[in-house]
Amino acid sequence: MSQAHLELHEHPGEPRRGFITHVLAAGIGLLVGTVPAFAGLAFFLDPIMRKKKSGGGDGFLKMPVTLEALEINGQPQLVKIIMDRVDAWNTYLNQPVGSVYLRRTDKDKVVAFNSSCPHLGCMVDYKAADRIYFCPCHTSAFGEDGTKQNDIPPRGLDTLDVDIRNGTEVWVKFQNFRATTPDKIPVG
Ligand code: FES
Repeated sequence: MSQAHLELHEHPGEPRRGFITHVLAAGIGLLVGTVPAFAGLAFFLDPIMRKKKSGGGDGFLKMPVTLEALEINGQPQLVKIIMDRVDAWNTYLNQPVGSVYLRRTDKDKVVAFNSSCPHLGCMVDYKAADRIYFCPCHTSAFGEDGTKQNDIPPRGLDTLDVDIRNGTEVWVKFQNFRATTPDKIPVG
């Protein structure tokens, strides 16, 4: 009797345990399936996230020269730009990425040029005697204001945004631009 009684009570319990077992199995299955899926998502998104983190700030770099160190209408100063580079998977610390000519044209105005020739990317020199920027690769020249002086380069030297901060700090938004095109198209 008691056995039958127990059975009577056990049978209704079985579907409930079965239901709980199914719910538990489904939950475990979901966890087992979802965790690697999210891990995979993080793996593939990681470079994008890193790129976002590395982007930060307003893109301006503080130059190692102050406004006072630049003579008004004097010779331009060449500053090498060293930055961390980030590709899809790796970060390369302290990589040379280009250089900038800084020239003070007024009391509180500094003009910055990317030193890369817009023809094929050679680095231009500054010839103090002629007061020009000179590209040795195909003997091209640019005026002190960056305008091209012959027909080989497709455009003048590329200007960069400059911001004078705290009265004396020179900040430059460094960018490289595509060579060979008449338009100034940022790269990287
Ligand atoms: S790379 Fe400068 S003129 Fe050709």
